[in-house]
Amino acid sequence: TGSLDARFKNKGKKFWGSCADSNTLNIAANAAVLKSDFGQVTPENSMKWDALESSRGNFNFAGADTLVNWAVSNGKLIRGHTLVWHSQLPGWVSSINDRNTLTSVIQNHISTVAGRYAGKLYVERDYRNGNRRTNTKIYVKWDVVNEIFEENGSLRSSVFSNVLGESFVTLAFQAARAADGTAKLYINDYNLDSNNAKVQGLVALVKRVNSGTRLIDGIGTQMHLEANGAGGAQAALTALAAAPVSEVAITELDIKGASANDYTTVTKACLAVSACVGITSWGVSDVNSWRSGNTPLLFDNNYKPKAAYTAVIAAL
Ligand code: XIL
Repeated sequence: TGSLDARFKNKGKKFWGSCADSNTLNIAANAAVLKSDFGQVTPENSMKWDALESSRGNFNFAGADTLVNWAVSNGKLIRGHTLVWHSQLPGWVSSINDRNTLTSVIQNHISTVAGRYAGKLYVERDYRNGNRRTNTKIYVKWDVVNEIFEENGSLRSSVFSNVLGESFVTLAFQAARAADGTAKLYINDYNLDSNNAKVQGLVALVKRVNSGTRLIDGIGTQMHLEANGAGGAQAALTALAAAPVSEVAITELDIKGASANDYTTVTKACLAVSACVGITSWGVSDVNSWRSGNTPLLFDNNYKPKAAYTAVIAAL
């Protein structure tokens, strides 16, 4: 019984979350559903580089702090999103063309941002059978690098790969580890929806970076799916979990058309893979979805649960 998040936890998972930010937190009906049904929030835009450091060394944490403060006061977990991404990246970063400058810019950005939220606690408990453990593990989860692969599994061309090669990945994870020694550090990407070439390329990179050490703790698969696109989800999660990481998560779930069948398939895929720690929906209501017109979420334009929501609850 209970909400989506509560039921998922009762199955041994750690959260069912949603993205949010001031614009959606300020909608009372949306905030009410977030409070009742979701256990974790990811800032939809407020922790991206352009929002936080629009010019070099000038940080603006207003939007990000609003999200974090809301989460802390409502007892929700927080996923930091995202430290290094080629998109929503200010022009002053993308025009850097020497290694030393880009290295120190990345290190400063990560130490400032991840350092600020170190200790904004991700409190993990075992909720099975209502058994609330008191010996909690406390940490933040961060998407350290986002969308760094091409579909064929090679590294995407970006200012980061063009100037620094693959070494920017290790550099970013080392900086995040230094800023927050207990954070769970993730690599995150899209179209990791079956055991495809992109999954293989990502797993190979994780093996290289993690050889002899454990810099990358987890892999996030966004899962922005098309209708009938959920069939490979469990195979993908299984393949990702077999990389040397301790956990995987579905970080930005939305499904065109939101059929009950597709949502049930994804839910069961995470339940079936023990390393899958949780699911984050990329929004609550269709009316605020970035995929406008796709009706991909669990709640309709009036913040009422859809058939997909009822099906997910039934699967839990
Ligand atoms: C999207 C947001 O939802 C939009 O509001 C914004 O205009 C663009 O970015 N992959 C990601 C997310 O990692 O950060 C993106 O979020 C969706 C795709």
